[in-house]
Amino acid sequence: MKVATHQLRCTECGAGIAGEAVASDFRCPNCHGLYEVVYPWSKAGSKAGSKASDKPEAAAGSNLPNPSALRWLWQERRTSTMAVDQSGVWRFRDLLPIVEDLENVVTLREGNTPLYDLPRCAKSAGIDWLLAKHQGMNPTGSFKDTGMTAALSVAAQRGFEWVACASTGNTSAAMAAYAARAGLRSIVFIPEGKIAWGKLSQSMDYGALTIQLKTDFDGCVKILTDLVRRFPICLLNSVNPYRLEGQKTPAFELVEQLDWQVPEHIVVPGGNLANSAALGKGFNEMFQLGLIPRLPKISIIQAQGANPLYRWYNDENRIMKPVTAETRATAIRIGNPASWRKAADVVEQMGGWCEQATEQEIALAKAELGAEGIGCEPASAVTLAGLKKLVAQGRISREERTVLILTGHTLKDAQYTIDYHRNELLTDAEAAEATPAQREQHESLRKPPIVLEADPDTVLRTIESYTRMTQPA
Ligand code: F0G
Repeated sequence: MKVATHQLRCTECGAGIAGEAVASDFRCPNCHGLYEVVYPWSKAGSKAGSKASDKPEAAAGSNLPNPSALRWLWQERRTSTMAVDQSGVWRFRDLLPIVEDLENVVTLREGNTPLYDLPRCAKSAGIDWLLAKHQGMNPTGSFKDTGMTAALSVAAQRGFEWVACASTGNTSAAMAAYAARAGLRSIVFIPEGKIAWGKLSQSMDYGALTIQLKTDFDGCVKILTDLVRRFPICLLNSVNPYRLEGQKTPAFELVEQLDWQVPEHIVVPGGNLANSAALGKGFNEMFQLGLIPRLPKISIIQAQGANPLYRWYNDENRIMKPVTAETRATAIRIGNPASWRKAADVVEQMGGWCEQATEQEIALAKAELGAEGIGCEPASAVTLAGLKKLVAQGRISREERTVLILTGHTLKDAQYTIDYHRNELLTDAEAAEATPAQREQHESLRKPPIVLEADPDTVLRTIESYTRMTQPA
């Protein structure tokens, strides 16, 4: 007899269904809400109104080991040679029992991403302790791999031949790679001309059918939602709740890397708003199971040109109004985020803020991170830009231990970096928004390439004059 290890529960109306019973658009037929995966040990879930203090009566009937045994088990699996143990997602599989047979797991040994300290960025932001969890160090260069290994494994187990997603580039790269590993066929919908080249090249490299639609990301989502109702295809956008099961695991890995100490604040970029929701779920589950003694706050930062959650947060009537998105941080160029309610619940329940960053602020933050040896995508750098604002507003205090979630690798969008250093990125109007201090920072951070004659004397003279002109930070 097959025993259900999990159920899906609508985050709006609370209706529960068996995993296999879900509709192709992953929406609740009663209220159109999004689902979340729940287990025998889950309690209130991330619905607004649930309290951080809501602990489960007991993890009754779940057969879950106690917290110390789980911590030991997860550590022990690191020494194993099995792929599912080496994966930084499936190492925590006790808290995501969504596949019946581990043989079905599709993995590229994702997760296990580094945690870096950022003393110079901390100083610039005005806090004492700042770390970055670099999710761009995943196999396809973004945090999407952690979610894709989970959702693709479920799709493969359910016998799908086709998988598809609409994407600003990273989801599609990850989906194409995992589908290729599983031997499934994949279709990618991307907004024409609006994603970084590195990402576009990946979906072709991994053999996906790549369709560039003459619309934006939100338009791609509409087309795909229509398509999945007419063609047997597994939808792998983040409305698929299994994605979030993988994307919650960096929360486990983060506190494990900190010896089970919980930072005060986590700062996450916001686009379609699934990642913040997933991390919130991860922290909540650890708290409910007694793995951590308290919850961190989670703050979400959006680009000013793609800021529907920021607007909602600052609207006294709390009405979500989609926007027409425009930002060079193309990964988060999203005006109608699918998971906004889940993400808003996380910020409300765990505490934290929603901020926005201008194009100039994003460019500066990315250059500062780069100058500290930590490259990332512009969409990841919004975290540092937002952190600076939250500190300046007194919302994050100097002593609060803060972790930035960097979501994408710097090589995903090399053109952005080149344009920045050649001073060809920002318009005059955008550059004029910089304060004198920011302008000075830009000037010292910009390192355009220098073209010289191939002559040693010329090279030496140039280095000497450069040395005179610049001071190490
Ligand atoms: N950072 C990067 C690098 C991303 O690619 C994305 C989303 C985000 C942040 C935002 O995460 O959507 O969960 O709030 N990229 C999606 C994609 C939408 O299609 O690759 P979110």
